[in-house]
Amino acid sequence: MRLYPTFFRLAFSWMDAERAHKIGFQGIRLAHRCGAGRLLQRLTAPAPSLRTEAFGLTFPSPFGLAAGFDKEGHGIEALTDLGFGHIEVGTITGQAQPGNPSPRLFRLIEDRAVINRMGFNNDGAAAVAPRLRAARAALQRRYRTVRPVIGINIGKSKVVELEDAVADYLISARSLAPAADYLVVNVSSPNTPGLRLLQDVETLRPLLTAVGEAADSAAGRHVPLLVKIAPDLSDEDIDDVARLALDLKLDGIIATNTTIGRTGLASDPDAVESCGAGGLSGAPLKKRSLEVLARLKAATGGALTLVSVGGVESGEDVRARLEAGATLVQGYTAFLYEGPFWAARINRYLAKHPVRR
Ligand SMILES: Cc1cc2nc3c(=O)[nH]c(=O)nc-3n(C[C@H](O)[C@H](O)[C@H](O)COP(=O)(O)O)c2cc1C
Repeated sequence: MRLYPTFFRLAFSWMDAERAHKIGFQGIRLAHRCGAGRLLQRLTAPAPSLRTEAFGLTFPSPFGLAAGFDKEGHGIEALTDLGFGHIEVGTITGQAQPGNPSPRLFRLIEDRAVINRMGFNNDGAAAVAPRLRAARAALQRRYRTVRPVIGINIGKSKVVELEDAVADYLISARSLAPAADYLVVNVSSPNTPGLRLLQDVETLRPLLTAVGEAADSAAGRHVPLLVKIAPDLSDEDIDDVARLALDLKLDGIIATNTTIGRTGLASDPDAVESCGAGGLSGAPLKKRSLEVLARLKAATGGALTLVSVGGVESGEDVRARLEAGATLVQGYTAFLYEGPFWAARINRYLAKHPVRR
């Protein structure tokens, strides 16, 4: 019997969504600190058959936690107790910033969706870097063979003008690359004004080139570099990004971020309207995220690692993404609705139902 859905209905669903997130995340970290980590790790460890090779790294499972849940690396070890094959930390920016005023996170329970306009609230790259280096060292000590992978997702500071974006991303790349197993250039959040304009290949090319060079030189090794794109790009724009990624020999593309669209929702339109601006994630994103994956697969012909994210809820969903051409799959919103054993359930399903490629 699953207790979490009842707990969610009786407690979390009545609370401000950001407060519920903080309490849930604190609970996960507390369980880890109280010594439950080892036990949880044994219970949730992905089967060895799920090991996945991507951009020169071995992931214990193809399923990981998407950016935004642990924005500053406060709970990486605790989150790996739950069976995620990788944790993508961030988005982290060059400068510390508070994000948008609260309330800024809203649930659409009927749609199993969320609208957020967090706005990259974080302590800034310089403050987060030592925490991430310590977390990486701790995982290396704790997992003898294959350990969960740490991705670091970077974005533009709000106060920095778009023309100065490259220099701002470089601040983050230089301080964070040494702690990163892979690095993600996020140009697709709808909550930083103008950010998504950086997806234009004319601006994206110099940005990715500069970040890739700075990351490798700061870390003294090749740090796999990926770009994260929005579901709201046109199909032609998706093809352009795919061609650019191939041209620059990027390590992969993460698709997709949240959408600014509000179509196909079952929730009361007034309730949706009252949430205001922000990115929509969760089940309503599933269809478009799959379409973008198919488009990228066709455009890259398997020459690039694709990471699929958006509306993934179940083991079946993850398997469908892997069969559609993704090497790795991520999720976030369903974690809020499914609870702490979500990744472990997905891993169990995948172990029992091998992917047909
Ligand atoms: C509250 C919240 C905050 C997020 N913050 C970030 C972020 O900082 N950087 C980022 O690249 N994506 C962020 N995302 C987007 C997720 O990483 C993911 O791409 C998106 O939610 C779609 O996946 P999902 O439907 O499984 O949630 C955030 C999503 C949510 C719900």
